[in-house]
Amino acid sequence: MPEPMIAPSILSADFAHLADAADSVARADWLHVDVMDNHFVPNLTIGLPVVKSLHRASDLPLDCHLMIDDPDRWAPGYAEAGAANVTFHVEAAADPVQTARAIRAAGAFAGLSLKPGTPLEPYLELLSEFDTLLIMSVEPGFGGQSFIPAVLSKVRTARAHVKSGHLRLFIEIDGGITDDTIGQAAEAGVDVFVAGSAVYGDGDPAAAVERLRDLARAGMALSAHG
Ligand code: DX5
Ligand code: ZN
Repeated sequence: MPEPMIAPSILSADFAHLADAADSVARADWLHVDVMDNHFVPNLTIGLPVVKSLHRASDLPLDCHLMIDDPDRWAPGYAEAGAANVTFHVEAAADPVQTARAIRAAGAFAGLSLKPGTPLEPYLELLSEFDTLLIMSVEPGFGGQSFIPAVLSKVRTARAHVKSGHLRLFIEIDGGITDDTIGQAAEAGVDVFVAGSAVYGDGDPAAAVERLRDLARAGMALSAHG
């Protein structure tokens, strides 16, 4: 069974101390970096200069989640800035395949993200061009929202395709992942779990990462036997 991967989202950390936020979860698998442009979502966060600085400040692979318009233009720059995985939204992209190829050519994994209401079926054929499928389990824009369980059917569909040999893909979930919800996501077939408030809202972010990983492992075991 693969090991679950935990990607703490620095959206819930103190933006004045991002290097400390990265250090505090040094045993996480990826560091999730939410890039928002105030157009694709009604919130504004950080961009390329901060990603470059974080890349210098931390050894954690940076998982950049672009919630921006015109990712075709901007996404490859995040790969050049040192991101390990660059995920953009299908709802915003003009040419997702071309953009995925540009991200990969710049040396990063390419990720495709779907908002909760966006169906997966129309994009299944595209997924061979991607390394990561990020299924949003809240409306993108803000941390601390409640998990939307209906998105788990997309997780199950994606997992079935991976299992049948059609795809090699990280299946990632983002939004409302807590001690109470991570198990059901793992059981449905997620292998990368973003958690913002559940990690940085905890007095001990490192312990929260380990606890979430243990709960995910237990959920994965249920699906293996189910
Ligand atoms: C929301 C972001 C998430 C956010 C998740 O648009 O994409 O990564 O940080 O926060 P929690 O885990 O608190 O729902
Ligand atoms: Zn995110």
